[in-house]
Amino acid sequence: MERTLYVPQDTAALAMGADAVADAFRAEAARHGLDLRIVRNGSRGLLWLEPLVEIATPAGRIAYGPVAPEDVPSILDAACTDGAAHPLCHGPTDEIPFLKNQERLTFARVGLIDPLSIPDYEAHGGFAGLRQALGMAPGAIVDAVTESGLRGRGGAAFPTGVKWRTVLQTPAAQKYVVCNADEGDSGTFSDRMLMEGDPCALIEGMAIAGLAVGATRGYIYVRSEYPQAERVLAGALQAAREAGWLGGDIQGSGRAFDIELRRGAGAYICGEETSLLESLEGRRGLVRAKPPLPAVRGLFGCPTVINNVISLATAPFILARGAQAYRDFGMGRSRGTLPFQLAGNIRQGGLVEKAFGLTLRELLYGFGGGSASGRPLRAVQVGGPLGAYLPESQWDTPLDYEAFLAISAMLGHGGVVAFDDTADMAALAEYAMEFCAIESCGKCTPCRIGSVRGTEVIRAIRDGQDRETRAELLRDLCDTMMAGSLCALGGMTPYPVLSALRHFPEDFGLSPVPAPRTAPQPA
Ligand SMILES: Cc1cc2nc3c(=O)[nH]c(=O)nc-3n(C[C@H](O)[C@H](O)[C@H](O)COP(=O)(O)O)c2cc1C
Ligand code: SF4
Repeated sequence: MERTLYVPQDTAALAMGADAVADAFRAEAARHGLDLRIVRNGSRGLLWLEPLVEIATPAGRIAYGPVAPEDVPSILDAACTDGAAHPLCHGPTDEIPFLKNQERLTFARVGLIDPLSIPDYEAHGGFAGLRQALGMAPGAIVDAVTESGLRGRGGAAFPTGVKWRTVLQTPAAQKYVVCNADEGDSGTFSDRMLMEGDPCALIEGMAIAGLAVGATRGYIYVRSEYPQAERVLAGALQAAREAGWLGGDIQGSGRAFDIELRRGAGAYICGEETSLLESLEGRRGLVRAKPPLPAVRGLFGCPTVINNVISLATAPFILARGAQAYRDFGMGRSRGTLPFQLAGNIRQGGLVEKAFGLTLRELLYGFGGGSASGRPLRAVQVGGPLGAYLPESQWDTPLDYEAFLAISAMLGHGGVVAFDDTADMAALAEYAMEFCAIESCGKCTPCRIGSVRGTEVIRAIRDGQDRETRAELLRDLCDTMMAGSLCALGGMTPYPVLSALRHFPEDFGLSPVPAPRTAPQPA
């Protein structure tokens, strides 16, 4: 009897030795004459259990993890005796609370399917959205995305439907769809997980965007540090083309759309949309002044939809299940779900897709299980390197774009990095400013010079030099950066710096600050 086994080939699993585990299963099966089919799936997102191996049984998929090659013989023994207890067995994967309590819409297939199998993708609902879109007028596709309430998941949360409508309404002989897969934010990995686990969802989403705005060409700009995502995407693009889901005549509809893969230039600023377009065109990643918006004059001077991986990969759900089905999740103006990424000092790190509205505390303790060190958690940075450091008093704020803006924070791309009570928040503030100094594209003065001076001032405060005066200088400098920077790198680096100063003044050797200063706006 053939048995099916799942060993992820996601980067996180590979880093933990998944290839050696797959080899060990192959060798052990050959030794015992077992008929074993090994599927190299994406990760289920329970990263602390990687490599998480699943064995298909009549009762569903049973999870074992974290598996090392030496565990393989006993796991196969346990699997062959159907259900015999094994110390690494976690029972049915879908029943593990971390997974069971999620609302996976965009990530519904990630980890379940063979990422390179079009039949597997279709058997799990794949291409239903594109099939639907092929029978719709462009304006109707844009209407559906607008009504769903989807907002850009790359960080700025701009309404996706509004962006698509601008491109649709801008006449041009050539238009483009560009996928921003640069994923430079610290502690984030949802784009990578999706591209490695369900690449066809991104391909399908880009094709839907193409039909919606009248674009026939797409580019995926994938972070240079993601070679595995690049490999999987290349294979999936080829498979989609061969199956007639990309190319000059999609499924005999007469509609054309194809996608090229481009490797990123390895700079954080190349994730900023205009800088990304410069890089795609073959130049150094330098931010362009807006207007014109990329939707009006983008890649090679043509109207361009530029969206994050998750925004695009969510479009198939909206088209297949309807705008309302997506809108039904979430709160306020934050509709649908966000794939949160739990990282840093956390016991159960991984991917948690949930509707907007849960709290950080629920994420940190309900899903994350508290700190990995066992010490009390002290601060959490949400939204990547430009996100504020939030103290415990703010962990009951609902995870919602507007609620976070109200506390001078942001959700960004959904990265959540936890720190325990040994963290030095002044050192982290210095790091944030230095990061900006290193990654600044240099185009505008507040960021280019301000971040260098800001780093010096924080160092001086930490060295105990005239702390109160320098702290005031630092706040003024942050105001200038927020007000005068051309893009959000310079404009939002003050978020982590000011939040550390405000909530953890003792780490700088300062007395508490009474009132918050200007609430910056994300660009
Ligand atoms: C410094 C900087 C870095 C950024 N990096 C990324 C990134 O890695 N991935 C991404 O999707 N958006 C990134 N963005 C946001 C993009 O500029 C843009 O808003 C996004 O690609 C639009 O797609 P969305 O509407 O689907 O979010 C970055 C912005 C800034 C200012
Ligand atoms: S804020 Fe910084 S990264 Fe952005 S344009 Fe100005 S110099 Fe470049």
